[in-house]
Amino acid sequence: MYAALRSIGSYVPKNILTNHDLEKMVDTTDEWIVKRTGIKERRIADTDEVTSDLGYKAALQAIERSGIKTSDIDMVVCATLSPDYLTMPSTAAMISQKLGIKNVMAFDISAACTGFVYLMSLAKAFIESGTKKNILIIGAEKISSIIDYEDRSTCILFGDGAGAAVICATEDKNEAIVDVLASADGNFGELLITPGCGSVNPIREDNLDQRLQYMKMAGNEVFKVAVKTLTKDVVDILKKNSIEAHDIDMFIPHQANYRIIEAVRSKLDFPLEKCAMTVAKYGNTSSASIPMAMNDLYEEGKIKHGDLMLLDAFGGGFTWGSALVRFAGKNITN
Ligand code: COA
Repeated sequence: MYAALRSIGSYVPKNILTNHDLEKMVDTTDEWIVKRTGIKERRIADTDEVTSDLGYKAALQAIERSGIKTSDIDMVVCATLSPDYLTMPSTAAMISQKLGIKNVMAFDISAACTGFVYLMSLAKAFIESGTKKNILIIGAEKISSIIDYEDRSTCILFGDGAGAAVICATEDKNEAIVDVLASADGNFGELLITPGCGSVNPIREDNLDQRLQYMKMAGNEVFKVAVKTLTKDVVDILKKNSIEAHDIDMFIPHQANYRIIEAVRSKLDFPLEKCAMTVAKYGNTSSASIPMAMNDLYEEGKIKHGDLMLLDAFGGGFTWGSALVRFAGKNITN
């Protein structure tokens, strides 16, 4: 049995936070943000719109496009760093409840911006082992809930959104997810961290006063490791599978920073038109960034049945990973 990516869907909150809006909130400029990151605007969920609401809407679209009945889904997994609740219930359980899915495994994974690549690996393994047949995977983030809008080094980068996919069992090897490589190294943990509200710095007034509940980042150091790791990921997976860069129909790297994407793309010689670039309009949406970018390309008719996609992600942990995935869904009809 092989695992096939049958569909993609996404949800983008309607509220737009522009660089000019941020100029009124912190000491920054539109010019600085565009030059250093390529980001022009990002989406922010409504106050009463939570992570599982975003994930639910993306999942609904992915299920509709998959041709699978909701009742046939036998596992739901969500990657998120901004869950509905800190410990429980899981965001995947909340999404399942909203979809009316009952009596199947539902759980979250924590792999930051690499979450969607980790989910590919997980879904592939569960299906190839014959344990599950139709798995719903979701990357959903209300990152605005863990961002300090007084910290200009982080608040300019991130946005909210969700992406989802349905992965199904198939006997046709030509439809299969080809390979996934993923890793982590906790030695870099402190460079990108939400230090508060866990067992290290529990929810206490002194910790909250120090704003430890918000994400902190050593941007410059993260940048260097990101470029190196994202490049190595691609080289490794192409070599392992004896595939050349020109065999890839669409390169979909994690959308964190235009300069990071450009550095990786140009080193690996992917033409601009074969590289996803949505960071200008969404910012970094962490685990949702790859499926949101994939969904946009799909809706633009740039991803078709049988196309070979290369996913490449990097994030807090540090975590990183790449995936060679065929699109095994139906072509978009407008
Ligand atoms: N607006 C204006 N100035 C800013 C600023 C902002 N939002 N943020 C930082 N600066 C200032 C700094 O204080 C510094 O000033 P100084 O030279 O007077 O000390 C200067 O700009 C340069 O800062 P630096 O951090 O070296 O900039 P940079 O070119 O590395 O860009 C990032 C900063 C965060 C955009 C960049 O490092 C980055 O994108 N890193 C990776 C982040 C990431 O992708 N994280 C998620 C991974 S999944």
